[in-house]
Amino acid sequence: MSVAYDVDSTAGANPNDLEAFFMPFTPNRAFKARPRLVSRSKDMHYYTPEGRPILDATAGLWCANAGHNRDPIVEAIQKQAAEMDFAPPFQYGHPKAFAVSARIAALAPGDLDHVFLCNSGSEAGDTALKIALAYHATRGNATRTRLIGRERGYHGVGFGGISVGGMSPNRKLFGSLLPGIDHLPHTYNREKQAFSKGEPEWGAERAEALEGLVTLHDASTLAAVIVEPMSGSTGAIPAPKGYLKRLREICDKYGILLIFDEVITGFGRLGYAFAAERYGVVPDMITFAKGVTSGAVPMGGVLVRKHIYDTFVKSDDPVIDLFHGYTYSAHPLACAASLATLDLYREEGLFERVREIEPIWADAFHTLRAKKGVLDIRTVGLVGAVDFESREDGVGRRAYEGMERAFHEEGIMVRTAGDTFAVSPPLIINESQIGEVVDKLGRVLDKIF
Ligand SMILES: Cc1ncc(COP(=O)(O)O)c(C=O)c1O
Repeated sequence: MSVAYDVDSTAGANPNDLEAFFMPFTPNRAFKARPRLVSRSKDMHYYTPEGRPILDATAGLWCANAGHNRDPIVEAIQKQAAEMDFAPPFQYGHPKAFAVSARIAALAPGDLDHVFLCNSGSEAGDTALKIALAYHATRGNATRTRLIGRERGYHGVGFGGISVGGMSPNRKLFGSLLPGIDHLPHTYNREKQAFSKGEPEWGAERAEALEGLVTLHDASTLAAVIVEPMSGSTGAIPAPKGYLKRLREICDKYGILLIFDEVITGFGRLGYAFAAERYGVVPDMITFAKGVTSGAVPMGGVLVRKHIYDTFVKSDDPVIDLFHGYTYSAHPLACAASLATLDLYREEGLFERVREIEPIWADAFHTLRAKKGVLDIRTVGLVGAVDFESREDGVGRRAYEGMERAFHEEGIMVRTAGDTFAVSPPLIINESQIGEVVDKLGRVLDKIF
């Protein structure tokens, strides 16, 4: 049963009814019985409709890296909305689409110098997989059709993304998915990695499984490998030291494209514009979304290396290079928001700031180790995750109770994955707010044990 709730007295026919919205990735009835509603945001905080501040320890959903409702971003969106609402991205263009692509490319390492724009991380994942297939086919390697993901990976919810993804609840009800997919093993091993700060020492050898897949399927059938530099949705699992370099070496040896899904790690989360830079590895493609506009307007995209762009864009014949795109690719509001966001990141040195505060963040977050029931703590960049014991009535129930208590009693927004709290605050967080995040989480942990 949903409760009557004064959502907004001007909102429509049934303003007090939460029933109609079929909420994504949410237990609808439990939420509607005890809603966690926010209606305003500024900098590090959300505010409930009653005006109660909620400390945002999740940057919304790993998006609001510059903090919320920053004036330059708000103004850029307002100005763009008044100037030009929409422009078709097929066969026509507008200046900000080119400007933002150049800015994003300039932030990427190596020759990742072209950008295909879309509207979300899911679209970015599917776009990258399609580009990989089309790249090999265009170069005459039409047998290279197999895509390799990784257990516990998350690449959004399109059919491509869930096929290469490795989270069973996201896959099991959705039919046979894409054919010709295989998965690398995940890199988490609690026994060997527990309570690591940053990249764990153990785990690079897990990349060798790719050699095994080459032996099994033959290199001539393999198109691309897609991994997140840090698995976010499955509970924030950083790449082990040396793991991504080894994947790059094996991909190079066999002509397999390497795709980094940087939808979470892009735009400063690990202290660099892209995690590829932190790890000194240049993948063939990087997918991004979220932080590209600090979450203010939906936007995603795929950075591709020069050899990929050149494969499609060979001559000045007026024929379409890639039969793929979205009506809202390079939407003017998204481009305006992104340009303002990228300015803010640069002016405030927010990526470098993460590198500076990472040790402070890690030390503070790891103090939660003293709490009852804690099984592991992981930190990397400005990300923290704490795993704790599940209750007997099922995995995830203790975390759900914790998330409710965090919101209603402690005034903090956290994310859960199974019985893990994952936090990833806006990059503008200050030291006292880091302390506040840890104190509030500590009190929540005390309450749920
Ligand atoms: C690594 C990764 N890839 C893709 C996605 C999907 O992004 P979206 O929800 O914008 O489709 C996410 C979302 O959290 C993600 O974390």
